[in-house]
Amino acid sequence: MITGDAVLAGVVGWPVAHSRSPRLHNHWLAKAGIDGAFVPLAVAPASFEVAIRGLAACGFRGVNVTIPYKEAAAALCDTLDEAARRAGAANMLVFGPDGIAGSNTDGIGFLANLAAHGPIPTGPALLLGAGGAARAIASALLGTGVRVRVANRSPARAAALAAALPGLEILDWAQREEALADYALLVNTTSLGMQHQPPLEMDLSRAAPGLVVADIVYVPLETPLLHHARARGLVAVPGLGMLLHQAVPGFQAWFGVRPEVDAQTWALMSAGIPAQ
Ligand SMILES: NC(=O)c1ccc[n+]([C@@H]2O[C@H](COP(=O)([O-])OP(=O)(O)OC[C@H]3O[C@@H](n4cnc5c(N)ncnc54)[C@H](OP(=O)(O)O)[C@@H]3O)[C@@H](O)[C@H]2O)c1
Repeated sequence: MITGDAVLAGVVGWPVAHSRSPRLHNHWLAKAGIDGAFVPLAVAPASFEVAIRGLAACGFRGVNVTIPYKEAAAALCDTLDEAARRAGAANMLVFGPDGIAGSNTDGIGFLANLAAHGPIPTGPALLLGAGGAARAIASALLGTGVRVRVANRSPARAAALAAALPGLEILDWAQREEALADYALLVNTTSLGMQHQPPLEMDLSRAAPGLVVADIVYVPLETPLLHHARARGLVAVPGLGMLLHQAVPGFQAWFGVRPEVDAQTWALMSAGIPAQ
């Protein structure tokens, strides 16, 4: 039950019906006993800016922003944190007296999920894919001081990413398997392995013992890549955790309480997602 004083936040996207964020945030709100609500906001492209400014005028504390608006959101913010500036994209907005503050929490969410599954590898990382998610993750990994290489099907996109992130190295897509022994962390940021998509072709037989294999695809919960990693005794880090952890800073900023990503949260959020 919410009252007239309820604190409001939401997720803006187009479409937005697939978003799992309302389930997550409303679970945390109920658990913390907060008088508040987190609502899905489907906003058509022509109305994006007017909708964001309108939500701020309505007293919303802020919003998450999802596809296709992360770049447009960064462009209309009055201030951006370092991660959003580097990514050129914002997924979390806070409305305050000084305007709209944008953050990018994808990288933080990725690292927090990694940390929840064991020590963050200090050796080199191989990132497959060079899209929006890769940019946030590469930037976060470089920030931890590790060496990061990116391999992407389209070389031009890998080159563009490396040009935007100083220190990021490029590996030819065709060499991703033979080079595997040199890495402590392998991350799939492509959409391969997702339900209704072909699996990622990645032979793990050259992996060093202890290789950490993270997939950010979370439908299914265990992608073929994670399945093969686990079968080889490697550390497998599922993508759902990134989704859960990236939501923590927003909830804390809007509702004033730091929520926990615990077993109950995992159970609630994985319900309905195919296991494999
Ligand atoms: N767990 C989370 O919280 C989280 C967060 C964000 C995204 N994701 C997931 O991460 C995935 C990528 O998201 P994104 O926003 O970065 O997407 P994106 O910007 O569209 O990038 C897609 C990437 O996948 C590659 N790719 C697509 N089809 C391929 C194929 N057949 N062979 C080789 N590479 C292929 C693309 O390579 P090209 O450049 O060659 O096209 C590109 O590198 C999606 O599945 C998304 O659901 C998860």
